[in-house]
Amino acid sequence: MLVLGIESSCDETAAAIVSGEREILGEVVLSQLDEHRPFGGVVPEIAARSHLAHMDRLVAEAMERAGVGFDRLDAVAATGGPGLIGGVIVGVMTGKAIALASSKPFLAINHLEGHALTPRLTHDIPFPYLLLLASGGHCQLLAVEGVGRYTRLGTTIDDAAGEAFDKVAKMAGLGYPGGPAVEKAAAGGDPARFTLPRPMKGKPGCDFSFSGLKNAARLLIESLPRPLSERDQADVARAFQDAVADSMADRVRRGVREMKARWPQTRHLVVAGGVAANTALRQTLVRIGRETGLEFLAPPLKLCTDNAAMIAWAGIERLRLGQSDDLSFAPRPRWPLDPNARKGAKA
Ligand code: KG4
Ligand code: ZN
Repeated sequence: MLVLGIESSCDETAAAIVSGEREILGEVVLSQLDEHRPFGGVVPEIAARSHLAHMDRLVAEAMERAGVGFDRLDAVAATGGPGLIGGVIVGVMTGKAIALASSKPFLAINHLEGHALTPRLTHDIPFPYLLLLASGGHCQLLAVEGVGRYTRLGTTIDDAAGEAFDKVAKMAGLGYPGGPAVEKAAAGGDPARFTLPRPMKGKPGCDFSFSGLKNAARLLIESLPRPLSERDQADVARAFQDAVADSMADRVRRGVREMKARWPQTRHLVVAGGVAANTALRQTLVRIGRETGLEFLAPPLKLCTDNAAMIAWAGIERLRLGQSDDLSFAPRPRWPLDPNARKGAKA
């Protein structure tokens, strides 16, 4: 089985061909980082135009790398949401056009489902497993019970984890994107100089919160002489990163407890999303895995961040269950994975 995947929901334009044997045959990811850097964040209009400018060429390149034509595909899968709607429309329309022109089934994939099923592409693990998805747009704990069967155990009630890293980096003059910059600065920071709050720690449930911590970091930065010295930047970064890791550890421990109580056959704890690149967070998760007897897995970094192989793979999982979508599918800016999840929290 061969599926073409297309991803364009944020600031990566990507195309990939994946086989039912879990091989990535051709893969291209174009990051728009340089286009958004001057603005210190993703600008939706710029993102949409850039997806439009590059998508055709990237699909052709991925097909060429895989050495196949559209006639060899079993289906075309494109991210149908959630995400920046201009970009989602570009990917969905491209996917529909290829599917229609080559008479193949079309699948509209939930971007979060792409992240959620990635560990089955990279490690072939069985359901159920616990997933921490932490990216620039999302921070959730999901019980992945099966294809299309996701229970959200917790989510952020305000900012996503990556968003907080990006904002604190900006305030501290560390540049964009913030996550890698904060991690690099934190490596030389003194963990004892500043202490920032651990949001939600000890609270019932598994929800996350980062806006209070972000504000505390802002007040700390404002109390220091401007522009921040390298030493101050490093110490602030270290305090912030420690607080994030500690707060997340508390939430994940609770998530594991709930997961085990409801799905006792759970064996794996998995992480996905760009924040999974953070070494301090990874070390924390390895520790939690050891404590709780779950095996901790992290897909390789290029499959943790946004990519099209995960979309193609989710397409394969759905196709195997006999599912596909109608060409009338409408792109969705919001699309919760767990329709029963509590309303009010950010998707
Ligand atoms: O998954 P991703 O590539 O894109 C989406 O948001 O969907 O995640 C990007 C986010 C950014 O907020 C970035 O600052 C954060 O992941 N990030 C990190 C690190 N590398 C990337 N956060 C903390 N530590 C890192 N090393
Ligand atoms: Zn993502």
